[in-house]
Amino acid sequence: MSDPTSTAPLPNYWDYLQLESLLSLQGGVDGGEEALVADELLFIIIHQTYELWFKMVLRELREAIGAFRTARVPEETVPHAVHHLRRVSTILRHAVAQFEVMETLTPQDFLGFRDKLAPASGFQSHQMRELEILLGLRASQRETYGQTDALAHIRELAKNSPGGASAWGRVLAASAAADEGGTLRRVVRDWLSRTPIDGSSPGDAGDEAVVATFVTGYLRALEGWQEEQAERLASAGIAPPDAIREKFAAATAGARAFLGAEDVGEAMRPTARRARAGLLYIESHRQLPLLAWPRLLVDTVVELEEQLVLWRNRHARMVERIIGRRVGTGGSSGVEYLDRTTHARIFTDLWTVRTLLLPKDRVPPARNEAFYRFATP
Ligand code: HEM
Repeated sequence: MSDPTSTAPLPNYWDYLQLESLLSLQGGVDGGEEALVADELLFIIIHQTYELWFKMVLRELREAIGAFRTARVPEETVPHAVHHLRRVSTILRHAVAQFEVMETLTPQDFLGFRDKLAPASGFQSHQMRELEILLGLRASQRETYGQTDALAHIRELAKNSPGGASAWGRVLAASAAADEGGTLRRVVRDWLSRTPIDGSSPGDAGDEAVVATFVTGYLRALEGWQEEQAERLASAGIAPPDAIREKFAAATAGARAFLGAEDVGEAMRPTARRARAGLLYIESHRQLPLLAWPRLLVDTVVELEEQLVLWRNRHARMVERIIGRRVGTGGSSGVEYLDRTTHARIFTDLWTVRTLLLPKDRVPPARNEAFYRFATP
C-alpha cells in the first residue's frame, strides 16, 4: 500500500516500464539505430520480443515446477500449476503466430544485412536452452551439428563475452536444478506415480496388487480389441492378413512393454511403472470427478509441448521461406537441422499413452468409484 502522506513522486508509465532504456536497445552491432539498414530494426525487435516472451515462459515454468516439487501435492496446487502452464501454452501459441511478422522480411532484404550478424544465430539463445532444460529435454535428445551441440557451443562463446557468461550462468543453474529433479517432466512423473488407482495410493496396503490388477485387466481388454481391429482390417483385404495381425500384435506387445517400463533403468522402473499406470488411469477414467484437475494438467502439458513443436516447425518453415536451404548464420545445415529438432518429445509417456487408449465402453470399469466423488459437506 502506498503511503498517502508521502511526497515521493507518483509512478508514471515511462519510468515504471523503463521505456527509455528499453527503447535504446535496438542499435545492433553498430550501437546506433542510424547505422541500421532497412528492415534490420524489424529483425532486432522481433528477436527481442521473443526473448522477452521466453523470459516470461521461464518464470511461469519455474512457478509450476516449484509448486509440484513436494512429496505430496495438495489438491489446490494442481489448479495453480495448470493456470501457469496454460499461460506458457498461450504465450507459445502467440509466439508461433508472430512469425508472420518476420515473414514480411523478403529474402533479398534479409541478405542486405545477414552478413552483419553472422556467425550470431538463434542457436545461441540461452533462454531457449534453459527452456528445454527446465522442461526436461534429455542430453541424448539434443541435436548436434558438426562437432558441437548448442550447450557446448554457448559454453565456449561465454568465455569471451560478458553477456554470454552471465547468461551461461543461468543455463548452468537450470542444469543443476534439473539434475536434482527440478524439471517439469520429472515432477509430473513423480506426481503421476502417486495417482490413486481404483482408490489405492502408493504406501497403502496391497497397492502393488491393485495396480497389477488394473494393468492386467486393461491389457486383456486392449488385446481383445486389437484382435478385433486386426480381423476387421484383414478381412477388408487392404494388406496381407498376416502382416496386419503382426502389426496389431506388435502394438499390444509395445503397450505391455510400456506399462512394464521395460525401457527404464532398474532403479527408476517402479516409479515409472506406477506413473504410467496412473497416467493410463487418468486418461481412461477422465469422467471421475476427482480426476478432473489431474486430467486437465495432463492435457495442459501435452498442449504445451505441442505448441513448442509447432514453434520449432513454424520457425523452420519461416526460415525456409526466407533463406531457402542454405547454411545458417550459425553454421548448421539450416532448415535440415531445424526440422530434426522437431522430432524429439520431452513428455514421451504423455504421448505414448495415447496409442494405448480404448473406447470408453471397452475400458474395464473403475473399482471403488466412490473414492473419486467430491466430498459432500
Ligand atoms: C530471418 C529470420 C530468421 C532466420 C533466417 C533464422 C534462421 C535460423 C537458422 C538457420 C537456425 C539454425 C542454426 C544456424 O545455423 O544458424 C536458427 C536457429 C534458431 N533460431 Fe532462427 N531464424 C530467424 C528468426 C528467428 C527468430 C525471430 C527467432 C526468435 C527467437 C529465432 C530463434 C531461433 C532459435 C531459438 C534457434 C535455435 C533452434 C534450436 O537449435 O533448437 N530465429 N535460426
